[in-house]
Amino acid sequence: MDVITAIHTRRSVRAYTDARVDAEAVRTMLAAAMTAPSAGNGQPWEFIIVDDAARMAKIPEIHPYAGMAPKAPLGILVCGNTAKEKYPGFWVQDCSAATENLLLAAVGSGLGAVWLGVYPVQDRVAAFAAFFELPEKVIPLSFVVIGHPKQEQQRQDRFDAAKTHLNAWQKGKFPQF
Ligand SMILES: Cc1cc2nc3c(=O)[nH]c(=O)nc-3n(C[C@H](O)[C@H](O)[C@H](O)COP(=O)(O)O)c2cc1C
Repeated sequence: MDVITAIHTRRSVRAYTDARVDAEAVRTMLAAAMTAPSAGNGQPWEFIIVDDAARMAKIPEIHPYAGMAPKAPLGILVCGNTAKEKYPGFWVQDCSAATENLLLAAVGSGLGAVWLGVYPVQDRVAAFAAFFELPEKVIPLSFVVIGHPKQEQQRQDRFDAAKTHLNAWQKGKFPQF
C-alpha cells in the first residue's frame, strides 16, 4: 500500500474481530513508530505493549473514552521519557509523530487502530502512570487500541482550501492564490 492511500484510509477503528495481532505486525508497528522524526533525533519514546485481556478490560477504568479497549486484542501505550530528551519540551511532538506512524503502520498491516489521548489531561496521566507502574520521568502520551477491523474503512479527504494561506495570513488560498 502506498503512503498516500494509507493516510487517506486510516480511520479510527473501534470494532474488531476476535483475531489476535501477530508478533510480526507488532514489530512492524513499533519499528514504524521508532522511525518517526524527533527533535535532534533524540527518540525520547518508550512503548508498553499490552496483550493481556485482563489488563485491556481495565483500561475503561482509567480512561473515559476507551469503551472499545476490552474487545481489542492489543494496546500500545506511547510514553515520553523526559530523562532522554535532547531538547526539553519537544517530547510531545516526538511521541505524537511516533503515534501517527504507528497508526499508519497498522493500516499497512491490515489492522485498525484508534488513538486515545492521555497527555495533557492530568488525571489520565496519573492513572496510566500508576496502572503501568511508570518511572517518574516517563509520561504517557497516548494509548493506541489495535485489532483486526470488523469493517473496511472508507477513503477520506478533508482538504479545505479555507485553511490554506499563501506566504502570509491574508494573501490567498490554494488553489486560487
Ligand atoms: C489526540 C487525540 C485524542 C483522541 N482521543 C480519543 C479518545 O479518547 N477516544 C476515541 O475513541 N477516539 C479518540 N481519538 C480519535 C478521534 O476521535 C478521531 O481521530 C477523529 O474523530 C477523526 O476520525 P478518524 O480518526 O476516523 O479520521 C483521538 C484522536 C487524537 C488525535
